Amino acid sequence: MALDVDYVRKRLPGRVVSYFPRIDSTMPEAARLAAAGCGPGTIVVADEQTAGQGRYGRYWHSEAESGLYASIVLRPALSSSSLPVLMLALGLATAEAIARATNLGCDIRWPNDVLINDKKVAGILVQLQDRFVIAGIGINVNHAELPPDLAGIATSLRAESGKPQSREQVLVALLPAVESFCRMLVTGGKEAILNMFYRCSSYARGKRVIVEAVDGVVEGITAGLDPSGFLIVEQDDGTKRLILAGGVRAADARRG
Ligand code: BTN
Repeated sequence: MALDVDYVRKRLPGRVVSYFPRIDSTMPEAARLAAAGCGPGTIVVADEQTAGQGRYGRYWHSEAESGLYASIVLRPALSSSSLPVLMLALGLATAEAIARATNLGCDIRWPNDVLINDKKVAGILVQLQDRFVIAGIGINVNHAELPPDLAGIATSLRAESGKPQSREQVLVALLPAVESFCRMLVTGGKEAILNMFYRCSSYARGKRVIVEAVDGVVEGITAGLDPSGFLIVEQDDGTKRLILAGGVRAADARRG
């Protein structure tokens, strides 16, 4: 079923919700609206993306009317040094919105992959445009099946709860959660978000991980985050590596 955009608009008063039954990706459309001067909190949402964008140039599987594919235009009063922590905040917000709408508890894999039972249920892509931040959030809501390359590493809210879930309710929970975590970062500083991340992510400390970093593969045990929000991994020889970017996976998990 198509998204009930009237339901969403009624529950997000004062927000612009730009809806597309089908689009290549919500990211360029949100960038276009930001460039045209739209207000913060503007959301672009689609029932289907024909060229969904993931991190590191990957594609984002965007099956029609199954997932939530949304880009939110934000304008937080933050300097660029806060961006890594903003990425964490967006993961926390997405996990909170899922919990509010479905009662499902999530884990967060640094920096912001949202997992349920060790499988990815939501991913976040952050793009900067002038003074705007565009948060692209993809949530697997009602996928009954995922393509073979994702089946072992991804899941959906429906698969995890055993029943269909309302994309509208997840979207209605998402925007306030994103705004509230951004506010927490602006008013409480990076430490407030880092503390939340420690509470909500099993990946922050004591997890054996493999990281596909830009300069090679790093394996070790996670040893917290530095004050900027980067991940510290202690390798078996005792040396510590700071991970600025890269795909992280649990060392016992399948590749993906
Ligand atoms: C990731 O690789 O984990 C990030 C995935 C982000 C997907 C979302 S879906 C809405 C928005 N539009 C896109 O094309 N990508 C993001």
